[in-house]
Amino acid sequence: MPEHNSQSIRPRVLSGMRPTGKLHLGNYMGALANWVKLQQNYECYFFIADWHALTSDYADTSRIPDNIAEAILDYLGAGLDPEQSVLFLQSKTPEHAELFLLFSMITPLGWLERVPTYKEQQENLSGKDLSTYGFLGYPLLQAADILLYTPQFVPVGQDQVAHVELTREVARRFNQFYKLGEREVFPEPQSLLTPSPKLPGTDGRKMSKSYGNTIELNDSEATVRAKLKTMVTDPARIRRTDPGDIDKCPVGDLHKVFSSSEKVAEVREGCRTAGIGCIQCKGWAADALIQILTPLQERRASFTIDQAKEILIAGTAKATKRAEQTMGEVRESMNLTFLK
Ligand code: TRP
Ligand code: SF4
Repeated sequence: MPEHNSQSIRPRVLSGMRPTGKLHLGNYMGALANWVKLQQNYECYFFIADWHALTSDYADTSRIPDNIAEAILDYLGAGLDPEQSVLFLQSKTPEHAELFLLFSMITPLGWLERVPTYKEQQENLSGKDLSTYGFLGYPLLQAADILLYTPQFVPVGQDQVAHVELTREVARRFNQFYKLGEREVFPEPQSLLTPSPKLPGTDGRKMSKSYGNTIELNDSEATVRAKLKTMVTDPARIRRTDPGDIDKCPVGDLHKVFSSSEKVAEVREGCRTAGIGCIQCKGWAADALIQILTPLQERRASFTIDQAKEILIAGTAKATKRAEQTMGEVRESMNLTFLK
């Protein structure tokens, strides 16, 4: 079939997200919306990195099943199409663990200790004991996630670029030690940096689950409006008659991302002259958000959880096939072939 031919020449991309609960607008703008666009021009592998969730949340695992369900439903709601993309679950593809183990043999400890997120996150998440082997090693698990599918590109945000760099170094080191005749097993993938607009949460800080300031993709209209009402604004605008500045206001930032340029101009002028009030302005921002979220929510609601499971099962079978192909080459190049 012609589609098949065109599929096989499309460059391959792989990316994943750890399932931490309901996805929010920041996840959508920073990753999902970009993945959806990539589907047309790339051969896409997108996965739920459930083992990664354990690297920092190992003590209480009770929410893992629900979090995976939320993730796959939000992926589908956002428009990831199982006909176009391989959607799969990490822990059902044990090749990730096998390659991680083999990589662990050749990776100097210093490489992992130097990953910038290592010390940072250990300090930030000080409520948890992150002096574990799994936490130190998780960028290497990520390297295995990536290299198993030999993608040309890895769409990620700026915070993950260092992990893709490590992945390249691991690929290089592997290729130096082990070869398949003249051929190298692992091409070096590149980061495909996701352009992510400044997206503040309701408290004005970056939207993030750990700050509890998110607008979730599945929030109802009433919830979105209520959250917007409590959102912080330009601190200079205390009274209705005080002029404000859209560029100093988190609600203004939302308008810049989600509203039309005419609306942004109207807000800029109305805010500067105190012609509009913050309540009205927040109502408009809520309108814009609801317009983005409604089609996602309708699509999400069109899938039952059983259908979503079937999609993950079928995607995982496809991913496993691809992963097995790579592992065959890895085992062969490393002489792990005594029993074929
Ligand atoms: N570490 C990534 C994050 O925390 C998730 C992830 C795991 C990932 N494996 C990956 C992203 C492979 C891209 C490719 O967001
Ligand atoms: Fe912010 Fe809008 Fe109020 Fe201006 S009018 S301070 S942009 S909420």
